[in-house]
Amino acid sequence: MNLYDKFSELNIDIASLTVKKQQTDYKIKYVSEYIRVWAIISAERKEVKDISFIDCMCNAGVYADGDCCTAIEVLRIFIEIANNHKEKNFHLYLNDFDYDKIKFLNSVLNLVYDVELENLKIHIDNKDVNVYLDSLVKNSNIFGMGRSVVLYIDPFDFGTVIIPKVTEVLKKNYCEVIFNFFSSDYSRNIRNDKERIKKCIGGLSIKNKEEIIEYIQKQLKVGSIKYLFSYEFKTRKNVELYQIIFVTPSSKGLEKLKDVLWKVFDGKEFHRNEDETGQLSFFTTEDEKELRAKEYATEAKRMLLKKYSGEKVSYSTIEIYLIENTMLREGQIIKYVIKPMIDEGILTKNGETRNSSNYKKDTYTVGGFNE
Ligand SMILES: C[S@@+](CC[C@H](N)C(=O)[O-])C[C@H]1O[C@@H](n2cnc3c(N)ncnc32)[C@H](O)[C@@H]1O
Repeated sequence: MNLYDKFSELNIDIASLTVKKQQTDYKIKYVSEYIRVWAIISAERKEVKDISFIDCMCNAGVYADGDCCTAIEVLRIFIEIANNHKEKNFHLYLNDFDYDKIKFLNSVLNLVYDVELENLKIHIDNKDVNVYLDSLVKNSNIFGMGRSVVLYIDPFDFGTVIIPKVTEVLKKNYCEVIFNFFSSDYSRNIRNDKERIKKCIGGLSIKNKEEIIEYIQKQLKVGSIKYLFSYEFKTRKNVELYQIIFVTPSSKGLEKLKDVLWKVFDGKEFHRNEDETGQLSFFTTEDEKELRAKEYATEAKRMLLKKYSGEKVSYSTIEIYLIENTMLREGQIIKYVIKPMIDEGILTKNGETRNSSNYKKDTYTVGGFNE
C-alpha cells in the first residue's frame, strides 16, 4: 500500500522518514506474506483464541516513498481475517524508540484503521527495544495457552538488540521469532568494536562469522523452539547485508515459511538486489524454479545419505530434516528426492502402508554413503 498522496493530510514530514532500500521491499513482502499464512492457519485452529504480531522496532508506518511498513501491511491482513473470524481476537503490538516515528505511525493508523473492530486491538509503545523485550519476558497478557504469537525484531544494525534478552523471551514463552541478523554490520565493525557489538552478545569475544552464526542459533533455539531457517539478503555485488532468521516450535510453521519463500523469491537460494538494467533471462520463472528444485535435490540426496546411512526412517523425519537444512519445500520432497532416490536404488520404500502409493505414511531405508 502506498500513502504518498496522503502525506500532507497526515501531517507527515518526509525528512524524518526512512528512505526505503531495494531489499526492504522484499523483506516486507516476505514477512507479511508469512504472517498472512500463519494468521489464517491460527484463526482456523479451535484451540487458538488470540493471534498477536509484535513488531519491536516498527518504524513510522510509512517510508519516504509512501510505501507502508510491515506493521501496516500486517494490520491490513489482520483487518481482513478479523472480519471473517469474529470469534478470535487479534492484537498488533508496535514499538519504536523514536518519538516522531510513533507520532507518524499513529496518524497512519488512524487513516488505515478508520473503522474499529471489536476483535482487533493495537497496542503502541515508545521504548528502547531492550526495555521492551524485558517487558515481554513475563507478560501473561500476550503469551500463554490458546495464544499464537509472532515476534518480529528488525534493527538497522547488529549493535542494538541484546540477543540474550531475546533468549529470555523464548525461554519463558511459546512463540515464533523473525529476527534480522545484520551480518554486514557485524563483519564490518567487529574488529574495531569497543562495546557496541559485544554488549549484544553477552560480553563474549566472537570474531568470526561462523562462530557468530553458531552463537545466534544457540541463543534462539531455546525453550520450545525446535526449528530454525535463515535466508540471506545480498547487495548487487553479492555482499551479504543481512539474514532473516526464523525460529519456530512447530514443523507446520517451518513448512509454511518455505512455501512463502518459494512464492516470494521463486526458490532462489538468497535474495540479491538487481541491476537497474534488468537483464533478460532465457528461462521462464517456472523453468527456473524447476531447475533450482533439481539442483537443491542433488545436494539433498547426498545429505540424506550422509545423515541416515543404513537407517530406517519415517517420511516426516526426512521431510523435516530437508526443509530445515536445504531450500526445498515440503511439496517438492517426494517428487525431487524420494522418488528419484528409489529409482536410483539408494532408498528403499518399506511398503508399511496399506496403500502402496502412500509416500507420506511409509518408512524408508537409506542406502550406504560413499564420500
Ligand atoms: C529497519 S527499521 C524497522 C522496519 C520495520 N520493521 C519494517 O519492517 O517496516 C528499524 C527501526 O528501529 C528503530 N530503532 C532503532 N534503535 C532502536 C532501539 N534501540 N529501540 C527501539 N527501536 C529502535 C528505528 O527507529 C527504526 O524505525
